[in-house]
Amino acid sequence: MSIMAPVSLPKLCVLLLITIATCMEATQFQLQNLKETNIVFYMHDWETGLNATAVPLVGIKRPSVLEYGTVAVIDDKLTVAYDRNSTEIGRARGIYVNSALDGSELHFLLSLVFTNKEFNGSTLEIQGSNRFFQKFREVSVVSGTGKFRLARGFAILETVFLDLPNLNAILRWNTTVFHF
Ligand SMILES: *[C@@H]1O[C@H](CO)[C@@H](O)[C@H](O)[C@H]1NC(C)=O
Ligand SMILES: *[C@@H]1O[C@H](CO)[C@@H](O)[C@H](O)[C@H]1NC(C)=O
Ligand SMILES: *[C@@H]1O[C@H](CO)[C@@H](O)[C@H](O)[C@H]1NC(C)=O
Ligand SMILES: *[C@@H]1O[C@H](CO)[C@@H](O)[C@H](O)[C@H]1NC(C)=O
Repeated sequence: MSIMAPVSLPKLCVLLLITIATCMEATQFQLQNLKETNIVFYMHDWETGLNATAVPLVGIKRPSVLEYGTVAVIDDKLTVAYDRNSTEIGRARGIYVNSALDGSELHFLLSLVFTNKEFNGSTLEIQGSNRFFQKFREVSVVSGTGKFRLARGFAILETVFLDLPNLNAILRWNTTVFHF
């Protein structure tokens, strides 16, 4: 028994056209109903000193976030302002993996877990390549929960503080998401 019945070319074209038309309609419909939210916050990626929250676990030669093959687990504070003591709005929890042979990129796999009033309990799921030597780079928002259900979007990252010897950094996140 064949799984696909043979379809003639004209029939196939008609089918395709109907499918494309349906897709376009759905996209327009969905975009009209999505909310756009923009949030700017600061992530404190501290590997050394008081309250370090970024911990390199394993590496190929040795665990170092600047070297290919290192996996780190983080529970970084997210704040409203550059100051580490400013109001906390959530945490960035998950892992990043240095996945560039030349050490220049951290693959982010994170949940942004919000605790501030407006988005308390909601999360955004982040995945993407943080090419940290570039002034600005983007990572994807691939989904979300709570107020951010079915979120899609992107975040522009900028390193606004870097203490390379201690591997402490502050990243500014300019995050744009479309969600229900
Ligand atoms: C470190 O954490 C403690 C307890 O959570 C807090 O009181 C202190 O302010 C923190 N210090 C810094 C530099 O964030
Ligand atoms: C944050 O507060 C702690 C005390 O809780 C203090 O030691 C530290 O210097 C403060 N950091 C900044 C950047 O103000
Ligand atoms: C966030 O939600 C938790 C659990 O529901 C609650 O305990 C907490 O007070 C809330 N925080 C804010 C800032 O609303
Ligand atoms: C955030 O990025 C958007 C582009 O996506 C830009 O238009 C906006 O000015 C930026 N906002 C801040 C506060 O940097």
